[in-house]
Amino acid sequence: MYETLDTPTLVIDEEKALRNIQQMAAKAQDQGVVLRPHTKTHKSPYFAQIQSAHGAEGLMVAKLGEAEVMRRAGFLDQSIGYPLIGPLKEARLRDLLLAGVRVRISVDSLDGLASLKRVFQTTGVRIGALIEVDTGMHRCGVEDPSAVLSLAQAVEEADGIDYLGITCFGGHLASTYDKDAIVGRIREEDRLLSELARRLDDAGLHASIISEGGTIPAAFLDELRTATEIRPGTYIFNDVATVASHAAIWDECALAVLTTVVSRPSRERAIIDAGSKTLGLDGPINGSYGWVVDHPEIRLTRMSEEHGIVQPVDGRSLDLAIGDRLLIIPNHVCPTVNLHDFAALARQGQLVGEVPIEARGLVQ
Ligand SMILES: Cc1ncc(COP(=O)(O)O)c(C=O)c1O
Repeated sequence: MYETLDTPTLVIDEEKALRNIQQMAAKAQDQGVVLRPHTKTHKSPYFAQIQSAHGAEGLMVAKLGEAEVMRRAGFLDQSIGYPLIGPLKEARLRDLLLAGVRVRISVDSLDGLASLKRVFQTTGVRIGALIEVDTGMHRCGVEDPSAVLSLAQAVEEADGIDYLGITCFGGHLASTYDKDAIVGRIREEDRLLSELARRLDDAGLHASIISEGGTIPAAFLDELRTATEIRPGTYIFNDVATVASHAAIWDECALAVLTTVVSRPSRERAIIDAGSKTLGLDGPINGSYGWVVDHPEIRLTRMSEEHGIVQPVDGRSLDLAIGDRLLIIPNHVCPTVNLHDFAALARQGQLVGEVPIEARGLVQ
């Protein structure tokens, strides 16, 4: 299996990734919403370019480091979904604006707004702002609708800042793998957003953008009628979590980690050369830290940094020899990609090249 590749390494099925990109673009177009993919999953201008060529309007990034990589690659329409706090961040935002990037930023506090105002004062470049709303994930975001209204009013009145609307992230929607429960939560999310939009309208603060993040809500887009924009990231490759959440099927998982069996210490245990430093440590899901392709009978039950412990589900013996290669679909693909400098590209099982992951590790 890909004998010329040293392991552990990422292998991306280019055709599957392209199909995922095209399907999401078609879905967004059908429903009349803007698709602004989150680059946090692939962290690579190569894939951002393919997304742009297939219906994406602008990019979403989390951190300034990602924004800078995408700016160097020529992406000049960016939404930053992370609070920018402190003079060091303000200086980097200034550079980004002066380099010609049209920037929109999520804001959930007057401190965040003050940073943007200071940056405008020294650049003269207007900045778009979306109020980040907490719809249930309980991470960043304003929870109380009245507080959303007052922050929106403050943004509307701020010199040099364009109030654009609201943004949220439905990360909490997939904390169950029950399809009906997920759909129910997405409907509730939609109800919350539409009520908030109505209150903003009543206050003369019309939200021209209502942006919802996440692959799970994007997969159930017909339930999310209030959103004007979606920001899925994981959909490009998918992973065990998106499959478990009914947002994808195995055949739509475009990325796997190629590993080698390096030890067979016992009848029911094999060790692969990929641990938490290769796969990340999300999970387990259904008792496994990843899905072993073509081996439904085995699980990746434990990991240390450089070792993965593979065992059969029911205590049977393992039909694996030292030197065998296994492909593992990560539970959560985004942290996995972030651990690697490059990924191999494959088409119909043949290697066709490799792509650098330029923004990997850029957490600042
Ligand atoms: C603010 C924001 N928007 C969009 C996304 C993309 O979500 P997903 O990876 O589920 O597609 C994320 C993911 O963490 C996020 O934090």
